[in-house]
Parts: sequence; structure tokens; C-alpha cells
Amino acid sequence: TENFAEMMEEIKKMKKERNAVIVAHNYQLDEVQELADVVGDSFRLSQYCASTDADVVVFCGVHFMAESAKILSPEKTVLLPEIDAGCPMADMVTPEALIEEKKKYPNATVVCYINTSAAVKAECDVCCTSSNAVNVIRSIPNDEILFVPDKNLGSYVAKQVPDKKIHLWDGYCITHHRVSASDVQKAKGIHPDALVLAHPECRQEVLELADFVGSTAQIIEYAKKSSHDKFLIATEMGILHQLRKDNPDKTFYLLTQGLVCPNMKKTTVESVYNALKHGRYEIKLDEDIIRRARRSLDAMLRVR
Ligand code: 13P
Ligand code: SF4
Repeated sequence: TENFAEMMEEIKKMKKERNAVIVAHNYQLDEVQELADVVGDSFRLSQYCASTDADVVVFCGVHFMAESAKILSPEKTVLLPEIDAGCPMADMVTPEALIEEKKKYPNATVVCYINTSAAVKAECDVCCTSSNAVNVIRSIPNDEILFVPDKNLGSYVAKQVPDKKIHLWDGYCITHHRVSASDVQKAKGIHPDALVLAHPECRQEVLELADFVGSTAQIIEYAKKSSHDKFLIATEMGILHQLRKDNPDKTFYLLTQGLVCPNMKKTTVESVYNALKHGRYEIKLDEDIIRRARRSLDAMLRVR
């Protein structure tokens, strides 16, 4: 529509005026991904936010991601277009509960998944994303780890790094945790020649049946390089946009119809327009939280 085209024009104009960049997670709506300057997984987006010289970052994603951008670039204005776009898994651990749990394992190194609030990151030693969790934990000299909050990613890492004692937290992603082994078997029954590509937020029983396990960006890379031409995708549906764009001759099926993160779907082109127009919603964090949370993010970014 004319309105939509006008909105896109306005967004471009405001972006220039404010020296703003728009970044979007791989789970965002197709049109939001199309509009973004950078689309990626949590790791790539946090790396990008640490390096860009823009004055304003419009973060199309969920709250913890915009917070991470703010921690890495406190001098920038970071906007989250939809203030209610949260992550239920990140909400499964609070700083208070973590402080209590740390008392049980006083010698453990505390590792947090990037899907945590800034206040939780401030209580941790190292952060990780789904793309580097195994490497981050391997790089820690201590063999006792407390990992929060994703028990699925934590169990996956524990399997890859068997020499470490990893204490898990009872958190999970409601979207990925819904998928079961029988869903995989059913889907494979219908598409027997498809490879299963799964995100490590899925249950172990699902990951055991997968042909490849990785972050959203790693799944995209794997599908691009693979000589296979059919794939069952066990992660959020937004990823299909990039997969299909990159591989017009390959076929991608979402493993179950339930693989939708409602929070990732809240941001629209109109929300981005309003974010730039009204400078909303600005992420503000306590200086002390930024300083302490930054240590865990920096420790992650140093791991090769
Ligand atoms: P990645 O894009 O880092 O794989 O993360 C997936 C996710 O669930 C983010 O919330
Ligand atoms: Fe959080 Fe899961 Fe949504 Fe990712 S997909 S933002 S982990 S609820």
C-alpha cells in the first residue's frame, strides 16, 4: 500500500537523520528482516552492536537482546520497538534466585546464556550464546559450572564437555521445549529424506534425532553448504525467511506448527517507524549493572 511505502521512506530518512541502525534477530517477521541493516543470531548481533559507530540502535528482537546491546554500547541510544517483547526463558531466573543458588555451589564458575536480564548477567562470570556455549564452557579452567537458565542447552553442552560438572537450572524456552521426539519421528515419517536441523534449546530427545544442532546462524550456514535439498527445521519459524531466500532450490519444512515465538512476532514495520519517530522504547540500565554485566559479555567475546 501507499502508506506502507511512505512508512518505509520515512524510516530510511529518520535512520539517516539520527545515524541509526536497525538490527533484527533471525526470528523476526519477514518484513522486519527485510528492513533491517543486519540480521543474525544473538552472537552476531551482540558483536555487531559492540562495533558499530551508529548513535542509535533499533533492536528488533526481545528485551534481553536490546539490554545486551546497551551493555556493550552504553553511550548509544538503544531502542526496543515493542516494550512487551520479552523472553519467558530469560524471566525464569532472577538475580535474587541466582544469588541463593550460588551459595550452594560456592566454587562453581557461573555461566549465563545470553537469554538473561542484565541484572542476572551482572551476577555471572561468563556469558554465552547458543553458537559458542560449548567453546565458552570448554575454555573455562574450572571444572565445576553453574549454568543458567536453559536446562536444554545446558544438557547439550554437558554432553559435549563431559569432563565438567555442570549444575543446571530449571529453565527452558516454551517454544522449543514443546517439540518432542515423537514430533521428530512423525515429521521424518512424512519426509524421510529430509535432514533435521535443530536448535539446542530443544529437548535432548529431539537433539539426539537431529542431523545438525546449532544456533540460528549456524543452521542457516549449514543449510547453505549442504548438498542435501530437503530439511526439517526444529527452531522458530522466522528462520525460514533467510533459509528460503538463500536456497531457492531447496525445500524447508517447519518441524511442528508450534514453533512460533509470540514475543518475536510483536515487532512490525510500524513499530520500527514509531520507535524512530518517538525514540521509543529506550533501554535504560543502572551504571553499576552495566559495568558488572559487561564483564560477563566481554569474557564471552574474548573466547575464540
Ligand atoms: P540464536 O539466534 O543465538 O540461536 O538464539 C535463539 C533464541 O532463541 C534467541 O532467543
Ligand atoms: Fe525466548 Fe524462546 Fe522466544 Fe528465543 S524463542 S526469545 S528463547 S521464548
